[in-house]
Amino acid sequence: MKAKGIHPGLAVIIVGDDPASRIYVNNKKKACEYIGIRSEEYALPAETTQAELLALIDELNQNDALDGILCQLPLPKHIDEKAVIAAISPDKDVDAFHAVNVGKIMIGDYDFLPCTPAGVMELIYESGIDIKGKECVVIGRSNIVGKPMAMLLLHDHGTVTICHSKTKDLAETVRRADIVVAAVGVPELITGDMVKEGAVVIDVGMNRLPDGRLTGDVHFESAAEKAEAITPVPGGVGPMTIAMLMKNTVKAALLHHNEK
Ligand code: GUN
Repeated sequence: MKAKGIHPGLAVIIVGDDPASRIYVNNKKKACEYIGIRSEEYALPAETTQAELLALIDELNQNDALDGILCQLPLPKHIDEKAVIAAISPDKDVDAFHAVNVGKIMIGDYDFLPCTPAGVMELIYESGIDIKGKECVVIGRSNIVGKPMAMLLLHDHGTVTICHSKTKDLAETVRRADIVVAAVGVPELITGDMVKEGAVVIDVGMNRLPDGRLTGDVHFESAAEKAEAITPVPGGVGPMTIAMLMKNTVKAALLHHNEK
């Protein structure tokens, strides 16, 4: 890319001072630096108005030196996240949150995948796990993880069930699963007694316990006794999310310069 004069650039917007978001944004910037992507941080105060944020995004959309734009979520309550996501140009939307990119994923013809589900798929592929015909249970139905995760597993011919807070018998549903993806934000909700012997367990959760400890949505010790493969928290899915952001930013730069 260097030889072709392509130097990928990523704008990272953070609004307010959520400590978890600050850590995520710092890690994203560090990864950019490590692989040679130019990152520009826009750290805005919590009182920033929606109009001000949309004006910044408009400016970044038009900035030819930037290939990707990421606005760290969650945003302060007075800002409409949907409006912000809709304002980012789909070809700079390295999170793949824009409705255009979500729709492209749905029909299986996309440029970008959302970073966390894409990272989970990479973990599955790299571990040599075949998804075809497997019972896949996704816990959580967020736009960022649960819903696209289910779609990617479906594209790879999994038989997919999505569980959520109104699911009648979570334990029984999870017990059927060959592949479990927990992305619900409830500390250690999935325990070993819910895991089928030999299942693959992927933990997307990132929960801070009252004692300050970081834990996932899976009770690791008990689930690990049953699982054939399991991801830890921290150090499992998290680094993959960042790797996929780097991949999307490189891809955005290539597409921007008409290189596939
Ligand atoms: N907040 C939690 N996960 C994400 C993510 O993947 N992208 C953005 N922009 N915000 C997030």
